[in-house]
Amino acid sequence: MPELAWVNGEITNLYDAKVSFMDHGYLFGYGVYEALKVYNGKPFCVEEHMDRFERSMKEIRIKPDLSRKETIEIIYDLVEKSELQDAFIYLQITRGVGPRNNPSLPGAKPTLSMFVAYLAPLPDSVRQDGVKAILVKDDRWAHPHIKTLNLLPNILAKQIAEENNAYEAILANEEGIVTEGASSNVYAVFKDTIVTRPTDGKILSGITRLVLCRIIEQNGFKYKEDYFTTAELKEADEVFVTNSGAEVLAVTDIDGDKIGNGKCGPITQKLYDLFMQEVSRTTGR
Ligand code: PDD
Repeated sequence: MPELAWVNGEITNLYDAKVSFMDHGYLFGYGVYEALKVYNGKPFCVEEHMDRFERSMKEIRIKPDLSRKETIEIIYDLVEKSELQDAFIYLQITRGVGPRNNPSLPGAKPTLSMFVAYLAPLPDSVRQDGVKAILVKDDRWAHPHIKTLNLLPNILAKQIAEENNAYEAILANEEGIVTEGASSNVYAVFKDTIVTRPTDGKILSGITRLVLCRIIEQNGFKYKEDYFTTAELKEADEVFVTNSGAEVLAVTDIDGDKIGNGKCGPITQKLYDLFMQEVSRTTGR
């Protein structure tokens, strides 16, 4: 099945897609993106991802030249053409092409690009055993709530995780307060209460988080938005992370310290099951 790219209206095989050297996304990281999952050939939570995409564009002064409806039509068309059932859609818009010394690029057309690529579901054993995480200092810029292309600290944190055979880097500020994962939101379960950091501008407001919080509320779990330290996180009964790719995933080891009994805990398991029920309800997976 082909993995496809769409760049300013042109569809190519994924690795044949090209953008200009003088694109301000390439030169400055001047752009924002979205990443969403496809189940059963159907994109999940498109409207919620488009809401965030529009918020991000507004924050960095990009005015798209396609409407939301047109953009969504392209997403669906690309997925259909790819014939992929389990996939990932990446969508990015940059300020456009023009001279480097002209940061506002008057009149430039934003570069919209997308790709759809295969994404294998995580094996059951990983779900049951959970994953390892490491703690890394959060030294990102001041606006992590914007889903921008400026991911250097995230990528470096991911590399440190990889070097330590960890799946995720959990970021914490100088006071040791947890913000989020390098590419996920972080939750701790203390006894039977699920706690996650409020969306206070210091984290990305995850779409998986949004869906999961609805599920948590509808199903009467004890839940609170609050701050916690890395020391508290390590003492939690369960820890898990969420993002569009991994859904709800148990973290059972942080910096070599075992969380709970070292396996996916019952609340994490229940939330994963409920999340996947929601996926089935909306995509027929
Ligand atoms: N990243 N926090 C950060 C820093 C992220 O990069 C992501 C997702 C999330 C979770 O957001 P969502 O639930 O909407 O996927 C939180 C995606 C997966 C990425 O960059 O590929």
